[in-house]
Amino acid sequence: MQFELAPMEGITGYIFRNAYLKYFGDMDRYFTPFIASTGLNHKELNDVLPEHNEGFMRGLEKDMNVKGEGQIRPRLVPQILSNRAEDFLMIADRLRQMGYSHVNLNLGCPSGTVVSRGRGAGFLGVPSRLDAFLEEIYEKCPLSVSVKTRLGVTDMEDWEGLLEIYEKYPMEELIIHPRIQRDFYKHPLRLEGMELALHRQEKTGGRISICYNGEIHSLGEYQTLRQRFPRIQRVMLGRGVLKNPFLTGELRQWEKRRQVSEDYENPAPEARREVLWAFHQEMLNGYREIMAGEQNALYKMKELWTYLGDSFPGKEKALKKIRKAGDMIRYESAVREVFD
Ligand SMILES: Cc1cc2nc3c(=O)[nH]c(=O)nc-3n(C[C@H](O)[C@H](O)[C@H](O)COP(=O)(O)O)c2cc1C
Repeated sequence: MQFELAPMEGITGYIFRNAYLKYFGDMDRYFTPFIASTGLNHKELNDVLPEHNEGFMRGLEKDMNVKGEGQIRPRLVPQILSNRAEDFLMIADRLRQMGYSHVNLNLGCPSGTVVSRGRGAGFLGVPSRLDAFLEEIYEKCPLSVSVKTRLGVTDMEDWEGLLEIYEKYPMEELIIHPRIQRDFYKHPLRLEGMELALHRQEKTGGRISICYNGEIHSLGEYQTLRQRFPRIQRVMLGRGVLKNPFLTGELRQWEKRRQVSEDYENPAPEARREVLWAFHQEMLNGYREIMAGEQNALYKMKELWTYLGDSFPGKEKALKKIRKAGDMIRYESAVREVFD
């Protein structure tokens, strides 16, 4: 199984990614949050600069993982949000010059401002334009291109037609989040859309590599997915990893010991806490270093805790103090209480 870290705007930028790589490092691929401006604004540029991503840029795809498990070495894939081929190609060219070999197209962002401009999941509503866009970028882009998609905008009617379009292009991989734009992030998954994609993949001789993404936030949810879609070879994890950074390690362990899954043992709580503490400090120091003013670093860390709080059941009181902390002194004292 190949595991990939989902792009999450505002969260999985290079500070998070480097801290994750240092303390967990168990993803085969890492995707950056989307880049939308052709000139690459300050934040976008900093996120992809090779000097901010050294640990991801070393080695070629065919190299073995340092753990010697024969996996693909961790790599970084910048994501682009655009509906103009010219702009997409311009951004991809900048990325090529920095040493990237693979970019991802965002066809899933459901946010109103993105969709109203016909980008992200909004682009799925005009399949003929999307087809022309894909034709041009696949013809001209020197990098390999993967796509991250939803199933449609207002319903699933276009989904099969969209798959027919995707199948025409040499897609590096097709990452499917089985929801439509209207579903945002909470609506129940539409797994029948995944089923259709896998069925078509089988029919076309597996031309496209499909990656599943959505609501794998625990080992149990992963097991259910594996049962329903045993042929899936790639899974992208997002909020599940923010809630429990040990998740990918747990899923890998389970894959290794599938036959005797009852034997699975979680790492000792004490050891987990130590790693989480170091991971947290790494991010806190990283944000303090790069952000203008402590308040901005505080805001970033609080956002992370909306997910990471799940790793600390029974600590609701202290977690509330984190949410309420108005300055770094109160924040750090609340964090110590959570870890206590
Ligand atoms: C705060 C947040 C920011 C996100 N930013 C991006 C993004 O920049 N690009 C993208 O393709 N998806 C983005 N997503 C969607 C995730 O990559 C992923 O598809 C979604 O969270 C579902 O997977 P999960 O249930 O594993 O989290 C974002 C999601 C969240 C919650």
